[in-house]
Amino acid sequence: MTETWTPQSWRHKPISQVPTYPDPERVAAVESQLATFPPLVFAGEARELKHQLAEVAAGRAFLLQGGDCAESFAEHGADHIRDFFRVFLQMAVVLTHGASKPVVKVGRIAGQFAKPRSSDTETIDGVTLPSYRGDIINDIGFTEDSRVPDPERLLLAYRQSAATLNLLRAFASGGFAELTRVHEWTMGFMKDSRAYPRFEELAGKIDSAIDFMRAMGLTPENTPALRETKFYTSHEALLLGYEEALTRRDSISGDYYATSGHMLWIGDRTRQPDAAHVEYFSGLRNPIGIKCGPSLATDDLLKLLDKLNPEDEAGRITLIGRFGADKVEEHLPRLVEAVKAAGRTVVWCSDPMHGNTIKASSGFKTRPFDRVLSEVKSFFDVHRSLGTYAGGIHIEMTGDDVTECVGGGVSAVTEASLKDRYHTYCDPRLNASQSLELAFLVAEELQAHRPAREARTAFG
Ligand code: PEP
Ligand code: CO
Repeated sequence: MTETWTPQSWRHKPISQVPTYPDPERVAAVESQLATFPPLVFAGEARELKHQLAEVAAGRAFLLQGGDCAESFAEHGADHIRDFFRVFLQMAVVLTHGASKPVVKVGRIAGQFAKPRSSDTETIDGVTLPSYRGDIINDIGFTEDSRVPDPERLLLAYRQSAATLNLLRAFASGGFAELTRVHEWTMGFMKDSRAYPRFEELAGKIDSAIDFMRAMGLTPENTPALRETKFYTSHEALLLGYEEALTRRDSISGDYYATSGHMLWIGDRTRQPDAAHVEYFSGLRNPIGIKCGPSLATDDLLKLLDKLNPEDEAGRITLIGRFGADKVEEHLPRLVEAVKAAGRTVVWCSDPMHGNTIKASSGFKTRPFDRVLSEVKSFFDVHRSLGTYAGGIHIEMTGDDVTECVGGGVSAVTEASLKDRYHTYCDPRLNASQSLELAFLVAEELQAHRPAREARTAFG
């Protein structure tokens, strides 16, 4: 943290990926209003997540982070949130079983609105307009008016985040996440999925374990771990005016926390060590993520760690690699080795989505499921060969039966079927069946790394 850090100090640094609002005075008025609104999360919760991530860094837990690429105002509704949450819980159960370790659950949700874009403009049929930057900024419709950044959207995004978080908190602690309901988390259309029989088999094992525990006197009524779960929120903190307005000083520690979500991350396009986003993050005490793409220089990563975690606090930093299936083996080892040599504590997490986006011949952006799986496999292989811990995955997913990524899943999505249910507001997401299939693959990798039962008992 620089000596002069304040929640506003980023305003004096070079910044990229920001919208130009036609009415800056209205933006300032909205930000002042947001600054009076209640925090969405509490500092104590962010600290608790940081402790859980410290367990991941130490190899004693696994991180599952996922959700929409971009939340939208149009898709906001109870069913969308519930369907996401139950697939997420299914994945978490599969991973917990595979790893025999707790799974730290972090959604890309309740604040994941602002999108960095590789181009400032978009051209369709010879018409060029400003790019869509997420519902918190402008509208996805392809008209001049839709694309004008509108500050009122900040208020709508805040309200939607609050409502989403409210429902998620109820789902996590109000019985929906109870382990006796594990069969109910499967949705009708998933029954044809390749992963479905495996999930039902696992659910059967959980039933037996619960029956056994019940016989021993441990029931959901007297054992909170069987009845509820901890679920945290995260998003890319791109729109710093919004984040600044929700940055609050914790009355207990006197430290500053972002209260727009438990964990925030810095995108691959905004992680320049001397620029505005890194400055903003440097003064927060939340756990934070850094997206690491092929262009990240090893020295820059070390600079970022010095700046963002000078005391090497465990759980503070999660490095989210997003290289592409064909580049991960070239880039991940140099970063892992440098971090190891510097004696730094981080969580290594794999985002197998953002380096594997291609354009289908039909024009749709898609991600071949095989490439997603391949990047995850390489991530595990690299860590296995370097003796480091592959700590988590970060994915774009939905509980809906969409056709956005090709391959895998129910009846494998093909290039021709992409148009059937292509609903994403930004990047293509794994559908429910593909998400579950990915979880089984990761579980297999985790199982392969588990010490044998005898060794586990011998070493406690
Ligand atoms: C994202 O996570 O949606 C994203 C834009 O990622 P990245 O910064 O890795 O490109
Ligand atoms: Co994305």
